[in-house]
Amino acid sequence: MNSDCKPLANYPLRERNTLGFEVVAEWALPITQAEQIPPAIRWAKNAGLPYRTLGGGSNVVLPAQLPGLTLLMDIDFIEVLENQAAKTRLRVGAGVNWHDFVRWTLDQNCRGLENLALIPGTVGAAPIQNIGAYGVEVKEYIDTVEAFDCQTNQWVSLSNKDCRFTYRHSVFKDEPNRFVITAVIFDLPKVWQPRISYADLANHFANRSIDAITASAIFDAVCAIRTQKLPDPKVIGNVGSFFQNPVISNQQLQSLKRQFPQIVSYPESATHSKLAAGWLIDQCGFKGVQMGNVGVHDKQALVLTHRGGGNASELLKLAEQIQRKVKETFGVELVIEPIIINGSASL
Ligand code: EPU
Repeated sequence: MNSDCKPLANYPLRERNTLGFEVVAEWALPITQAEQIPPAIRWAKNAGLPYRTLGGGSNVVLPAQLPGLTLLMDIDFIEVLENQAAKTRLRVGAGVNWHDFVRWTLDQNCRGLENLALIPGTVGAAPIQNIGAYGVEVKEYIDTVEAFDCQTNQWVSLSNKDCRFTYRHSVFKDEPNRFVITAVIFDLPKVWQPRISYADLANHFANRSIDAITASAIFDAVCAIRTQKLPDPKVIGNVGSFFQNPVISNQQLQSLKRQFPQIVSYPESATHSKLAAGWLIDQCGFKGVQMGNVGVHDKQALVLTHRGGGNASELLKLAEQIQRKVKETFGVELVIEPIIINGSASL
């Protein structure tokens, strides 16, 4: 194995997980070229070791000792494949920082991703949980995901349909150890309309005529709103929303509304609605609560925080308490949103 394919032993990952946990990878390999991936996977398989990829570490809860091989996805390029009257097509390396990419698109006058500003993490991680914010999901702009399929040992291009995107979910969550994403192809249509129906943005632009709202103004507004509500992971460890917003039947919603008239919900389909998990957790009294080294953010109860000295099991204990209380109070199950990696099992 040549030197750029040789994994490094006992690699510290504290700077590579936004919760800021002290984590040591048994083996790690920075991946800057897609070609490094097949021999690295072969190496792990031959050694009987589990393996996984890590982007910005902003949607993952890691154990103190991370067994096996961790591929650190640092593939960094942005390529303009087409710039036509109807759309711009971009191919972007998995390791590119998501927010830097969004800013770059706006600098090039490509609009569409502005509502997704300031989401931590990398471009390669964006399709995994189908990142979304302020009324937009990334699936709307993804044409293709390029990946190495560790099951068939082949390079694959997954179409948008192949990715089976739904709310905070995709084929990459269904089959967590199968695909190593190397690049994402985005289509950004030239026809553009501001999307400001989400309450926080609607309030922000309340006095502006819709024609006067630019993509850059939305980008700035989203950055301002997120900065107000969500902790900066560089200052307070967190992985954004710790739970998904639960989807329930409209029938269940009606009965909950009789008991809790203030409950916050959004229509999801003709038959189902999404509840604001932050509101449920807030009502259970958890907002701002501290438990040892972990806690619940004081401005957004959906975000769990870590201020140093804590670990995954402490955080998961707090998560369990929240799940139990929400279930007792509202009869609703909260599903954990980030990927939890177990210390002993392979992902
Ligand atoms: N709410 C409370 N108390 C709280 C938190 C929220 O009452 O402590 C209420 C708010 O007042 C509001 C409602 O709950 O009426 C929704 O809150 P918010 O607008 O902050 O959005 P969210 O549904 O909690 C989702 C995403 C966020 C995304 C925002 C904006 C999920 C799991 N979370 O949060 O995504 O930024 O909408 O679109 O869907 C992430 O996934 O990591 C993330 C931060």
